[in-house]
Amino acid sequence: MHVVLLGTAAGGGFPQWNCWCPSCRVARSEPDRAIPRSQSSAAVSADGGRWFLLNASPDVRDQLGRLSFPAPTGARHVPVEGIVLTDAELDHTLGIVLLREARHLQLAATDAVRRIIAEDSRILAVTAAFADVTLTELVPDRSIGLCYRDGTASGLTVTCFPVPAGPPRFAREERPGHTVGVIVRDERTSGSCAFVPGCGDLDAGLLGRLGETDLVLFDGTFWTDNELIGLGIGERTARQMDHLPVSGPDGSLARLAGLPSRHRVYTHINNTNPMLLEDGPERLAVERAGLQIGRDGMRFTL
Ligand code: MLT
Ligand code: MN
Ligand code: ZN
Repeated sequence: MHVVLLGTAAGGGFPQWNCWCPSCRVARSEPDRAIPRSQSSAAVSADGGRWFLLNASPDVRDQLGRLSFPAPTGARHVPVEGIVLTDAELDHTLGIVLLREARHLQLAATDAVRRIIAEDSRILAVTAAFADVTLTELVPDRSIGLCYRDGTASGLTVTCFPVPAGPPRFAREERPGHTVGVIVRDERTSGSCAFVPGCGDLDAGLLGRLGETDLVLFDGTFWTDNELIGLGIGERTARQMDHLPVSGPDGSLARLAGLPSRHRVYTHINNTNPMLLEDGPERLAVERAGLQIGRDGMRFTL
């Protein structure tokens, strides 16, 4: 299985258009010291030419340029066979409507996510006016096969599991399954990748699940719990925003450091997170613990 990190920043990207926090300043003035990043999404493929997106970011149009595929023979070519959603947040779903020219889009999402994008953000309803959108329901702990748009099996399977988080701010109701993590497995190679871009806590059960995969892509939104409060740009803590901070004795770094997974990589990194600085002590701490800080274009073969 091929995995490409299409985007590794949280909502707003890095630098964020209206942000002049310390790391956004460096990303503008010295991009070698703080590499700009687009909004988080990843792509997986069994054959290196037909791709499934893990979430569809508002930057999808530029991100698709990172995907390889055989030279198309016709006048149209859709390199995206399907989109797997972890939740209905805007930074993970706005890209769906931007792919409406595909004419046929396959989505895989929980029933709660389907209802939020159908009824609350209406991204599903708007996209369905332009394209034939088919939806396969993700049910926790039930593995489904990912099929190409022509109906044949890709050899990749996906399983979802609920993670601690609240629903998007614009969701009118809170339904179970509004936020999940997913594990994609390649039946041929047995390679597996966990994708968890938003997660408010990491208990032993969740850690055990992640530790069984070869590649863990995990929520790296905030370095500290009071990051936005300290910078004077927010009132809520990281945990109140359903993002477990990276640092500290109860942070994700301390917990993920012990996992046996071959690759453990942070994604969905907020522009305020100091680990985005290439030469900072935060990055060093992450790397010393055996983890990597995701960067757009990173590739893995599992
Ligand atoms: C989040 O990651 O917490 C959400 O994407 C928030 C947002 O959409 O602004
Ligand atoms: Mn987000
Ligand atoms: Zn910033």
